[in-house]
Amino acid sequence: MIHVRDVTKEFNTSEGTVRALDQVTLEIPRGSVVTLMGPSGSGKTTLLNMISGLDKPTSGTISVDKRVINTLTVDELNAFRRKIGFVFQRFALIPTASAYENMEYALRISDIPRQEWDARIMQTLAQLDMREHAHHRPGELSGGQQQRVAVARALAISPQIIIADEPTANLDAQRGAAVLGLLRELGSQHITVVISTHDPVATKYATHICKMRGGHIESFGPINDGAL
Ligand SMILES: Nc1ncnc2c1ncn2[C@@H]1O[C@H](COP(=O)(O)OP(=O)(O)OP(=O)(O)O)[C@@H](O)[C@H]1O
Ligand SMILES: [Mg+2]
Repeated sequence: MIHVRDVTKEFNTSEGTVRALDQVTLEIPRGSVVTLMGPSGSGKTTLLNMISGLDKPTSGTISVDKRVINTLTVDELNAFRRKIGFVFQRFALIPTASAYENMEYALRISDIPRQEWDARIMQTLAQLDMREHAHHRPGELSGGQQQRVAVARALAISPQIIIADEPTANLDAQRGAAVLGLLRELGSQHITVVISTHDPVATKYATHICKMRGGHIESFGPINDGAL
């Protein structure tokens, strides 16, 4: 369970204070696949960064399995983050490293034994139809291929939570559906998945929909089977 309680996040800029999140409260049950939707600037990335412990709220608390994460020490936070797979909006792949090596870096900071790395990397790349590109660097890959490497990197570490910021933004409909299908499968394995997206099709793969607007939660709730 991810519990976001009364979270406000403000950024100080040269033009004054921007309130990116305004008293957001949200309870995400384990194994949910949540699509976070809302206009550009509504606070989706900011909320994902709070949940993953990449940034701290100005006020309010975030807890994961009853553990408050925004007051953890640096070491505790690093341990917590080992259980999270991130797919960043701008991929954040290491440009000088191949797809394979990018995944190796993620595994290096995970708890997964080294002897499992190669099989995991190749299997996960295969799931994303990227096996033949294992030894290509990001600059040698298309935007959609880089995006699939970023998804593979997040999946390879067997995370408890996947936080994916617009993971299908650079994919065609078929590739996008494949990625969303994979994420949906994780939900059924009790992994919690939170996906920010502008793609209404993504809701077909979700168990819950969260709509944001102007730093507020406009609506949040489960999708009833058959309702879509
Ligand atoms: N580091 C920052 N410094 C200042 N303002 C920021 C910062 N990060 C986000 N903001 C502001 O907070 C608001 C929410 O931004 P956020 O990136 O969370 O939106 P988003 O919903 O992810 O948008 P998009 O769909 O375009 O990715 C915006 O007004 C943005 O300008
Ligand atoms: Mg964003």
